[in-house]
Amino acid sequence: MTRPPKDDAWCTSLAGKTVERYKLDEYIGAGRIGYVYKAHLEEVPGVSRAVKCIFGDLKEGWEHELQKVMQLQVVESVVHFHHLGAAQISHGGRTRTCQFTVWDYIAPGQDLKRYLARVKKIPATFVFAVVETILRVLYQCERNGVSRHGDLHAGNILIGDDTNARLDDQLQLRDPIYVSDFGYGTSGAVMSPKDDYAGLAQIFNQMVSYVEYEKATPTDRQLLEAMKLTSGSYCVSRKAPSAEAR
Ligand SMILES: Nc1ncnc2c1ncn2[C@@H]1O[C@H](COP(=O)(O)OP(=O)(O)OP(=O)(O)O)[C@@H](O)[C@H]1O
Ligand SMILES: [Mg+2]
Repeated sequence: MTRPPKDDAWCTSLAGKTVERYKLDEYIGAGRIGYVYKAHLEEVPGVSRAVKCIFGDLKEGWEHELQKVMQLQVVESVVHFHHLGAAQISHGGRTRTCQFTVWDYIAPGQDLKRYLARVKKIPATFVFAVVETILRVLYQCERNGVSRHGDLHAGNILIGDDTNARLDDQLQLRDPIYVSDFGYGTSGAVMSPKDDYAGLAQIFNQMVSYVEYEKATPTDRQLLEAMKLTSGSYCVSRKAPSAEAR
């Protein structure tokens, strides 16, 4: 399968175009699979959706992602799926076919990686909130017959702005946290799913260096240390045994 490179100027300059009934308002970002735009239904201006445009063939097993997320359609903190389709887009004298999926738009379109790079410092409680959100979603996966997320990484954790801020246990406003983009892999499928707990440990490790330790309470620090040990041992225990160990 050939996929346009991430910096493909054509794919990133489609703002103003219409994909089926969705008007693309603003380019947000690209991942391994597609180009994400903030968009709205022409009949419903003022309500944004995220439209992911994919050019080229879909990867084998692509429907598993949608099956998984639809099984979680009323689960909190999951980015929900709304629609899929295919459309021709003409731009700059060139026409290409785009397969697209439509999702909740999580303003302002920032994933955990971008969030950390922007805020630079996070309270320990934010780390706990991210880990708790992911664990709650994984628990709901299990309850709803979804074998696993299958593609947990910081790019698939979205951090919303204060429009939908939630009150935390100390009644402080907390930027909302969402889990998106379930992996294509399922047990027994062509592509094996990525281990969710290894993904969670990686996300935890990425956040730890941003924590404001000076402001953390002794209990928060103890909890962070305990989580470091757990995530570290988890990563180590998942590595293939060394030659001597075998
Ligand atoms: N539903 C959404 N609402 C708002 N912004 C989003 C949404 N989905 C994705 N984004 C933004 O678009 C960027 C690209 O998303 P995309 O899922 O294509 O890439 P990725 O998660 O980095 O990689 P992957 O292909 O592994 O999922 C994200 O990093 C995020 O900033
Ligand atoms: Mg993603």
